[in-house]
Order: sequence, then structure tokens, then C-alpha cells
Amino acid sequence: MATQPAATPDSELKARHRAMWASGDYPSMVETFLLPLGPRLVEACDLGPGKAVLDVAAGTGNASIPAAQQSATVTASDLTPELLEAGRRRAEAEGLELEWVEADAERLPFGDASFDVVMSSIGAMFAPHHQAVADELVRVCRPGGTIGLLSWTPEGMLGALFATMKPFAPPPPPGAQPPPLWGSEAHLRELFGDRVEFTTLERDELEITAFERPRDYGEHFKARYGPTLAARANAGRNGREAEFDAALDRFCDEWNRGTPDRAHFEKEYLLAVGTRA
Ligand SMILES: C[S@@+](CC[C@H](N)C(=O)[O-])C[C@H]1O[C@@H](n2cnc3c(N)ncnc32)[C@H](O)[C@@H]1O
Repeated sequence: MATQPAATPDSELKARHRAMWASGDYPSMVETFLLPLGPRLVEACDLGPGKAVLDVAAGTGNASIPAAQQSATVTASDLTPELLEAGRRRAEAEGLELEWVEADAERLPFGDASFDVVMSSIGAMFAPHHQAVADELVRVCRPGGTIGLLSWTPEGMLGALFATMKPFAPPPPPGAQPPPLWGSEAHLRELFGDRVEFTTLERDELEITAFERPRDYGEHFKARYGPTLAARANAGRNGREAEFDAALDRFCDEWNRGTPDRAHFEKEYLLAVGTRA
């Protein structure tokens, strides 16, 4: 009888991350309030017909689909096949053709210099080993090509959400760095050095008005967002679920810029676009 090769710690880690992102309902989060981010990144990357574009950690194609609408030749890659499948259905409904490829951002299955544009909208930032990801983005982009990244900032609302969840979450894998660091200009300079000359480094905010009461936002995350589900499940294993819920409620109240009956959040991101040397 053939024996299966033993799973390496890395493949176990990837399987855990894949399951985390497939849990909940990320596609509905995109539809509820994340849709503006994809077109924002695509517009900044200045795409056009015939450009070969790679979207890394593309999820359901939030950036890939608007890129394909501009007649670029788009490859949407992601660790989580369930999200790619949802993206494929969205693209089909719009009559768009894209390649959908399961791929780890830390080890991309593409040749050197194969794309004119390599981009990621709040995606590559979630792979744990930042330097490995940055090296891969540079490797697959042709010299003179464009690298475009839209990332939540450490000081903004998503950075604060991760700080709120950290005491409850499972311990990060060895060598992992926190996702919101990708929203720091200094961190990007460390990761890319002189291999990418960033011509756009702009902070902006996503306005979120889809929720009536501030704590509805927290409930939305508890039901749909993989990282929140994972942190809350770990809190539950340690008998700290109520403490987790109270911390998330406080977080929602603190970040609400609207009224108690009409929530309004502003979520800061960094838009970074540059030329690969
Ligand atoms: C917040 S979602 C962003 C998805 C999409 N780019 C968007 O704008 O909606 C983060 C994505 O990162 C993907 N991801 C997490 N770790 C990854 C890795 N190591 N390699 C590739 N994708 C990864 C997840 O599967 C998920 O689709």
C-alpha cells in the first residue's frame, strides 16, 4: 500500500490558513463594504489592454475583476480555492475571462519576470513571512514593470482590530510578522530596498457605512471573517469567549465616528505603487 508523505510543518500551517480563510463568509464581506478597494488599486496601477497582470492573494477577485474589465490578461492567485471558486463565478456572470490559480504568495508557481504588473489588495499582507512574499513579488515582475499594493495600516482600524484580537488568538508561527506592518512605508522600504522605486505612497480611508449600530460591525466579523473566527474559537478553548466579545464591542464603540444608531467607520490603508528596478 502506498504511504502518504508526512505533512511538513509548513504544509500544515498552509492548510490551517487555507481553512481559516475558507471559514465564515469572506465573499459577503467584499460585497458588503470592501468592493471599492479593488478598483482603487487597479486605477493606481495604470493597466491597459494586453498587460499581463498577476493579482496575489486575490480572494474573490476584488482587484482581478476590474483589471480584466480593462482588457488586461489577468491571473488571479490565492491560497484558498473556495474563494477563487467564488471569484470564478463572479467573473463568469460578468462574461470575463481570467486564470484562477491556487498559489502560496511565499512560493509563487510562476517564472521569473512573467508579469508586467504584480498587485495585491489587502491580500499578500496576510502571508506570515513578509520577506519571502516581497522577494516573490519582485521575482515574478519584469524589470520596469509595476508593483502595486493596497494594505491596511498598523495605526488604522484593521491594525487596531488585530491588536485587539492578539491576546486571544493562537500563537503565530515562528518567524511570522503582523499583517498590518505592510501598511507601514518604512516596512515596505525594508522589504523591497532599491528593488522597487515607489512613486505612489498614499494613505487613504475606506468609509464604512453599511452597519446600523456600531456593534453590528463586530457581529459581522464574528460570523464571517476567518481571522476573527479563529481568534474567538481559541478564546473559547481558554474559557475567554465573553471577554473576547466584550473587547470587540469596546473596539466597535471606540472606532465609530457616527452615532449610536448609524455607524460610520473610517479604515485607513496605504496605497503603494512602484517600478521594479
Ligand atoms: C482579506 S482577503 C483579500 C482578498 C482580495 N484581495 C480582496 O481584495 O478582497 C486575504 C486573502 O489572502 C489570502 N491568503 C492568505 N494567506 C495567503 C498566502 N500565504 N498566499 C496566498 N494567499 C493568501 C486569503 O486566502 C484571502 O483570500
